[in-house]
Amino acid sequence: MKRLSTNELRQTYLDFFQSKGHAVIPGASLIPENDPTVLFTTAGMHPLVPYLLGEPHPEGKRLVDVQRCIRTQDIDEVGDSSHLTFFEMLGNWSLGDYFKEGAIQMSFELLTEVLGIPREMLAVTCFEGDTDAPRDMESAGYWKKMGIPEERIGFLPKKKNWWGPAGVTGPCGPDTEMFYWVGEGEPRGNPATHDKEWMEIWNDVFMQYNKGADGKFVPLKQQNVDTGMGLERVAAVLQEVPTVYDTDSLGKIMAKVRALADAEDARHERIIVDHLRAAVFIIADGITPGNVDQGYVLRRLIRRAIRSARNLRIEHDGSFTPAIAEAVIEEYGSVYSQVKAKKKEITDALSGEEQKFGKTLQEGLKQFEKVTGNAGKMIDGLSAFHLYDTYGFPLELTKEMAAEKGLSVDEKTFAAEFEKHQEKSRAGAEKKFKGGLADHSAETTKLHTATHLLNAALRKVLGDHISQKGSNITAERLRFDFNHPEKMTPEQIKEVERLVNEAIDADLPMAYHVTTVDGAKKEGAIGVFDERYQADVKVYAVGDGSFSKEICGGPHVARTGMLGHFTIQKEESSSSGVRRIKAIVSGGPAEIEVAQEASH
Ligand code: SER
Repeated sequence: MKRLSTNELRQTYLDFFQSKGHAVIPGASLIPENDPTVLFTTAGMHPLVPYLLGEPHPEGKRLVDVQRCIRTQDIDEVGDSSHLTFFEMLGNWSLGDYFKEGAIQMSFELLTEVLGIPREMLAVTCFEGDTDAPRDMESAGYWKKMGIPEERIGFLPKKKNWWGPAGVTGPCGPDTEMFYWVGEGEPRGNPATHDKEWMEIWNDVFMQYNKGADGKFVPLKQQNVDTGMGLERVAAVLQEVPTVYDTDSLGKIMAKVRALADAEDARHERIIVDHLRAAVFIIADGITPGNVDQGYVLRRLIRRAIRSARNLRIEHDGSFTPAIAEAVIEEYGSVYSQVKAKKKEITDALSGEEQKFGKTLQEGLKQFEKVTGNAGKMIDGLSAFHLYDTYGFPLELTKEMAAEKGLSVDEKTFAAEFEKHQEKSRAGAEKKFKGGLADHSAETTKLHTATHLLNAALRKVLGDHISQKGSNITAERLRFDFNHPEKMTPEQIKEVERLVNEAIDADLPMAYHVTTVDGAKKEGAIGVFDERYQADVKVYAVGDGSFSKEICGGPHVARTGMLGHFTIQKEESSSSGVRRIKAIVSGGPAEIEVAQEASH
């Protein structure tokens, strides 16, 4: 086996797929653009949905990248050997290019020849088939051709071997997953027979269906491949270490935690490493701790890390989380320049939250005194849960402190409350996820185009300092955040509305062309310029481009007239120096045409 460092593995993956004709594209932000239904980017395919649905990608039909991801569903399970809330996904895509055979052949070559993983240590699973789609004998056949024996090929149902749609509707299909033997002794069976002893390392999804609103699976005209490999897990395999926390990258952050700790507990050490690494990346992508959405998840991550720090008897007066963050930045700064560039914002936000939480804990101590004052021999479960939920007191802490006073805690009631609360937060999280990815329906496409017109009109009315700070589109409305120091006057709002409607009434054609980032800059397109990549980008122009020209992945409507009428519903403050507009379009046609590449 090649004993690669995490950094070497990341690069090896990109290089391998580049040598197979894939364009290396930059990973996207952890905060999804234009997608109101998920809080975080959860997979490499997430920013690529428009292209999986047929929108041409400027870099072609074969892509590869490293995507930072957050998955919060199992936040309470982090601390075991393999769960992470933040992880890096290595992925390659075929947008209507190669399909099952090509994908499996390349996966096998990378695993066995490039990474040198012995084929005896590998097993795979394929979709077993149901009324929606047949048993995937095709994939199994290709694996056999690669030399994977039959007993290492398991067949599993949709719950396991089917991926997507990420939302209610959209591209999806059977997948084939690759596993590494982590059991005792010689490899046995496959993941269908020995579930616990095989660790998933890679997933090739064959997106050959589109799930419609009626729940039916219709074959897609463009058959895509979407793969995702867990960087941390494969690093652990290659480095022959028992957990992801023992790999070179995470190991250094673990060492920092241990150096500060005055007690040992693997679970708490891991929680700190995972949660604060996630926090560093979330803050670097522009989020600060708060009480809703991403800010709330961030707050929970930081506070859970601090609670674990208490258990390890680590001082936490405002300098603990920044110290760990520095270790994270040290480790990842060379690969992710934004975490290095935002070092001050990151450490400031963490330190502030740590101090704030310290005060909450102080309040909790007072509450604890109150509760014990009223308690007989036992602290009731509801009060213990209140201490946990509102003041962040883990049950262990309450028990310990109660014991010092010769009291016990009604753990049964606590557990019941805890269970109830978890169900609630799970249901909430699931709802968010169930909503799924933006569907790129006619309505969202119209609002996406309206967002470009609004952006352009704002610059004309308020000045060229205006730049997009955030965009979020549902089927009902657009929401656009931009930097501007003061509230807009009613006249300014009216003028912006008038300019957008003028562009709509002119029924201007919209089209895109592909150019380099530099080229886009030179021709005066607005947009987010990613300096690190000399990649090709799409520039969408309205009419001759004098009204609006913006770097964007699309999709958009083919003519502005399809928007009907544009109305600003609200202009308000979003955060300091950032204003927020909510707007709608109405009266356009139900069916739209999508903007195409400009003819030369
Ligand atoms: N989208 C698939 C996954 O997340 C493959 O990347 O597993």
